[in-house]
Amino acid sequence: MRVIEIPKEARAWVTARHAEGRRVGFVPTMGALHEGHLSLVRRARDLADHVVVSIFVNPSQFGPNEDFSRYPRTWESDLRMLDREGVAMVFAPTPAEMYGPRFSTYVTPPKVAEPLEGPFRPGHFQGVCTVVLKLFQIIPAQVAVFGQKDYQQARVICDMVADLNLDIDIDLFPTVRDADGLALSSRNRYLAPADRGRSLSLSRALQRVDVAYRDGVRDGQELERLMRQVLERDGVDAIDYAAVVDPLTLLPIRELRSPGAAEPGDRSMPAAEPGDRSMPAAVALIAARISGTRLLDNRILR
Ligand code: PAJ
Repeated sequence: MRVIEIPKEARAWVTARHAEGRRVGFVPTMGALHEGHLSLVRRARDLADHVVVSIFVNPSQFGPNEDFSRYPRTWESDLRMLDREGVAMVFAPTPAEMYGPRFSTYVTPPKVAEPLEGPFRPGHFQGVCTVVLKLFQIIPAQVAVFGQKDYQQARVICDMVADLNLDIDIDLFPTVRDADGLALSSRNRYLAPADRGRSLSLSRALQRVDVAYRDGVRDGQELERLMRQVLERDGVDAIDYAAVVDPLTLLPIRELRSPGAAEPGDRSMPAAEPGDRSMPAAVALIAARISGTRLLDNRILR
């Protein structure tokens, strides 16, 4: 496994693979890797001949009061895991390499960045779009794999790719969970053992909304109320949002479609099941705080 820090060298490595007629798959990460990240790597391996993973804790996507400096960094174990997964190259630039002293160009994110996370993390998606566009320039892969865990991020990336005519396919991989249902996240290690029980309320609330949808509840506000009920009952400290939204625009839906009446999707719709780009009825998303840790989870309603 090659580890490359210099953008020019990383790009040369990728273009050499293209010259050999090989497909390259790319998984961007911020390290602190877990089974969720590794599942994206395995998906990329299915879609391409060589897998490149980037590890870069991107300062421009963290707000001034966020956890950039204490974001978990587990370099040695990350490299061991990626090596075991047969990753061909790890791109791990330094912040100085990515953001030189005169750096001043930023991507204005698409409209789907505005709701949900938008008001809670001002500037976050600008930082994500900027770094992901830079990474796509440095690693000109045929396909990049993102996790459904960050559904809004995946939608933002898909719209950026479409709007800016980027020549890369975006693939979405379903959320990987612990046995108890908690969505894996690098930030879960901030949770004290005593918080673990309450943290399960997100997946429980999403399960509740899924059951209600299958039972025929179509009123978006009613579905949101059911989610809040579970979150409040289980005692999360704050609900930033618990929303049932359109899978493409991420705006609230009054009346959901029935399952089976699936509309054809398009390239800007990330596929959560391999090859399935049909449009789900809605997506339920939650951001909630537990003892200072902000947890995200979501569920696609079909
Ligand atoms: P990071 O949080 O490290 O996540 C990297 C990728 O792993 C993202 O696509 C994310 O959605 C996916 N992922 C995280 N937890 C997952 C889980 N439980 N199941 C499946 N996939 C999961 O997202 C970022 O980094 C950054 O914003 C980045 C895109 C790298 C830009 O800096």
